[in-house]
Amino acid sequence: MARGRQKEVWVCRDCATEHPKWQGQCTGCGEWNTLEQALGAQPASGRTGSGWAGQVSTVTRLAEVGLDAQPRIATGMRELDRVLGGGLVPGSVLLIGGNPGAGKSTLLLQVSCDLAARLGVLYVTGEESLQQIALRARRLELPQEHLKLAAETRVEAILAHASREQPGLVVVDSVQTLQTEAVDGAPGGVTQVREATARLVRFAKESGAIVVLVGHVNKEGGLAGPKVLEHMIDTFMMLEDASDSRFRTLRGHKNRFGAVNELGVFAMTDRGLKEVANPSAIFLSRDAEPAAGSLVVVVWEGTRPLLVEIQALVDESQGAHPRRVTLGVDANRLALLLAVLHRHGKVAVGNSDVFVNVVGGIRVAETASDLPVLLAVISSMRNVALPRELFAFGEVGLSGEVRPVPNGQERLREAAKHGFKRAVCPIGNKPREPIAGLDVLAVRTLKEALDALF
Ligand code: TYD
Ligand code: MG
Repeated sequence: MARGRQKEVWVCRDCATEHPKWQGQCTGCGEWNTLEQALGAQPASGRTGSGWAGQVSTVTRLAEVGLDAQPRIATGMRELDRVLGGGLVPGSVLLIGGNPGAGKSTLLLQVSCDLAARLGVLYVTGEESLQQIALRARRLELPQEHLKLAAETRVEAILAHASREQPGLVVVDSVQTLQTEAVDGAPGGVTQVREATARLVRFAKESGAIVVLVGHVNKEGGLAGPKVLEHMIDTFMMLEDASDSRFRTLRGHKNRFGAVNELGVFAMTDRGLKEVANPSAIFLSRDAEPAAGSLVVVVWEGTRPLLVEIQALVDESQGAHPRRVTLGVDANRLALLLAVLHRHGKVAVGNSDVFVNVVGGIRVAETASDLPVLLAVISSMRNVALPRELFAFGEVGLSGEVRPVPNGQERLREAAKHGFKRAVCPIGNKPREPIAGLDVLAVRTLKEALDALF
């Protein structure tokens, strides 16, 4: 039986679990104050009762599935294509999130103008006026001949425009402004956003057009709106502004057509977003005096090395419970490393607060930062500055051993290229041949590294 149209439900804004009445906490995801009133979901067309009867599918052998139906469309911005996994895939739906002012609209306008002649692009805005967009395009001196614009928030109207114009790419800025007549509820609310997105997804799959949606972030930095959005789309990327710098990083969080470990780097200039083709050292400021608690690590981002500075501060704790605060590295990992330091390095941070920060707002997910984090912690604790020309990388295991990480040679070479003269690295990453100008200390254990440096 189809559900009555008037039935009221309360839907979680994050996980879309439905509840028959209001309650403070969602039973689905455990979040507080996320329930919104909505009218019962409409039966999705084509799914109900007799809808199944008309659908015919076939079973195919895996080896016989043809792959030629997936050409990539390069956007002309290599940093974007890198994160996409080679380019845009026809019929796919992308969601790009980020803080206000990160540059989402700028990036998409640049891409739209560049692709318009080749692909046919419809740029739909629910946030800015057509004049604002035109002004930006003129100021950035983008090609303006072919791009089609519409200021629209109703999905039905957007789909009507799209079926008339037949664009290869539809950009919708933003998904939170969308509304549809098919369901009730306030624009931006979970029911509206979900249904509006579902319609655009269906349109993309049926027409083969690429749909790019802009999404806002909530105050926790996650994507605003229903979590289910992420399941509906093919690719989800976040454009992040590295703390008050002009650099922007684009990272894939989900990609049905490529890897998610690539990082794209852009700089916001007065001519819009420009790619940073060789970003390995952009987050380093090399002119500062050596300071205690700071050390450079070479991390591996996707297919490239990136030099970042790790800072630690060890301070007398004011409360009963010493604090372990991290920005850019995992807090659990820090707790684990401090335990290893205590047990195998015979250094106890005990009742001190420990703060660790990765400079530039970069997040390091790699274990290669283990050794540098611990060296920075001890450097701060003892108030001994490590030499500026020193860098380190290496994973630290629970028995105090220093384990090799992938791409050791490339990391060493990259740092040497940027003028670093001394390295501390795992013995497993010791270069077979010496690297010119680089003095490498290859260590087997954490203790060896500590003995050599402090
Ligand atoms: P915008 O693309 O509007 O951000 P979003 O859509 O993610 O909210 O970017 C606006 C910011 O970028 C704003 O702070 C001004 C800055 N900006 C530049 O510095 N140079 C430029 O050429 C443009 C277009 C924007
Ligand atoms: Mg915008």
